Amino acid sequence: MANIESKRRVALAALGHVKDGMVIGVGTGSTVSCFIEILGERVREGLKILAVPTSHQSAILLAEQGVPLTTLTEHPSLDLVVDGADEVDLDLNLIKGGGAALTQEKIVASATECLIIIVDSSKVVKRLGETRGVPVEVIPMAWKLVKYKLEKKGAKVVLREGMGKAGPVVTDNGNFILDVNFPEIRNPDNLERELNSIPGIVENGLFVGLAELVYVGNDKDLKVLRKK
Ligand code: 5RP
Repeated sequence: MANIESKRRVALAALGHVKDGMVIGVGTGSTVSCFIEILGERVREGLKILAVPTSHQSAILLAEQGVPLTTLTEHPSLDLVVDGADEVDLDLNLIKGGGAALTQEKIVASATECLIIIVDSSKVVKRLGETRGVPVEVIPMAWKLVKYKLEKKGAKVVLREGMGKAGPVVTDNGNFILDVNFPEIRNPDNLERELNSIPGIVENGLFVGLAELVYVGNDKDLKVLRKK
């Protein structure tokens, strides 16, 4: 079970990669929130960096911590990106999007050669899809059509409902999220491309071949998984 200590441990490990003068991407979620808190402390102590957020959540937290923000328009190439994940397999492929921020997260991840993922050990799986479905961001007018097409391929599809809001989750980009459960994900690479070829799908939460290293924490220690 994830606790705050394991999140702090992986956040600190990721912070070890951040150096003066860097422009970094910052993911979304509770583990990244821990990273942002520690990053803020370092910035207040004098660390000079710029950060590209991947969601309203990370933009707000970064601003509250006094971390200067920038955009991909000003900095289309990033020194590194730190993000969380919902599942990680042993080839460092990921499922992301538990926080519905997958589209901006994938765009920002694609702007670096160094994507660092921080997770607790409950997120490591043998095969993607073991513990959850793949989040898929869809244009609202297409959601039912996309659901129908995915169900024809054998998936179970649920429109994600909001909390503290009536009706579906609306992403930072104004779209809906479908959580798509396939009986089995044998080839994440093919599935990632297949999903994105369906009209109406903006992006999906399979991140294949993007992560460079993954810090996996538990309440006692830390493990590093590196790209083979
Ligand atoms: C948001 C994400 C998050 O990185 C993922 O859901 C992990 O979040 P947490 O660190 O809270 O477990 O992909 O879209």
